[in-house]
Amino acid sequence: MAETKKIALVTGANKGIGFEIARQLGQQGIIILLGVRDQGRGEAAVQQLQAEGCEVSSVALDVTDQASINAAAAFIDSTYGRLDILVNNAGISIPAGRVASGELDINVLRAVYETNVFGAFAVTKAMLPLLKRSEAGRIVNMSSEMGSLSMQSDQASPISQLPPLLAYNSSKTVLNALTVAFANELRTTAVKINSVSPGFCATDLNGRRGFLSAEEGAKAVVPFALLPTDGPTGGFFSREGNPLPW
Ligand SMILES: NC(=O)c1ccc[n+]([C@@H]2O[C@H](COP(=O)([O-])OP(=O)(O)OC[C@H]3O[C@@H](n4cnc5c(N)ncnc54)[C@H](OP(=O)(O)O)[C@@H]3O)[C@@H](O)[C@H]2O)c1
Repeated sequence: MAETKKIALVTGANKGIGFEIARQLGQQGIIILLGVRDQGRGEAAVQQLQAEGCEVSSVALDVTDQASINAAAAFIDSTYGRLDILVNNAGISIPAGRVASGELDINVLRAVYETNVFGAFAVTKAMLPLLKRSEAGRIVNMSSEMGSLSMQSDQASPISQLPPLLAYNSSKTVLNALTVAFANELRTTAVKINSVSPGFCATDLNGRRGFLSAEEGAKAVVPFALLPTDGPTGGFFSREGNPLPW
């Protein structure tokens, strides 16, 4: 009955918020493809979700590797012929990026952009023809309030007082720019794309310092993967579902 069920691809889904998004979408009867760059870690995640009753498999997908992106798109095309949901979740923050901007190694900046920006762009571009074949294609970009230029430049905002994190923060700013650009170009189609901030979640990305669980973060994201026809596109939303300033 695969033709009547929605199909979702979540990148970087073997752990953290991506894994929880996959689980929550799987619990709704959606066919889940876990995009994973390590087959061993991916298989462990697949087995866990299958044991919980989810219809799930993994697809090799390193978002910094165009050949792996092309292969994943070809696999989805030949297996399902379309894609209903893409969650651009894969993301990194490198410890060497937690330095003053004047001290930041340009290779660290490049590495963070390679995954968080160019990776999300390349996956979106490759999956777009499949998403356009869906009756209601949905793309969610995993963003962050740390990428909000308005909040960073507002001295009254706690975001402006955080230690420097230029590479990660600006990568999410550019990710938001992708959201706006694609949304404007897709307004005449059934595809919607939004940026969502899951809140500060305890994951490996931040040494588990977040005050929310990955499960709580995922709960903020899932509604944007399942937006109704009259839902928003081209927006940036908080974990409560409220618009955030760019
Ligand atoms: N945690 C937070 O508080 C928070 C807040 C706002 C936004 N976010 C965003 O939420 C997303 C998920 O973060 P998280 O906190 O769940 O982090 P995480 O636990 O570190 O998980 C990151 C996931 O991305 C994967 N990944 C990294 N590089 C990849 C690549 N090149 N190709 C494919 N997969 C790759 C990782 O795979 P491996 O296991 O193979 O490394 C892992 O599955 C990120 O985009 C992050 O920026 C997180």
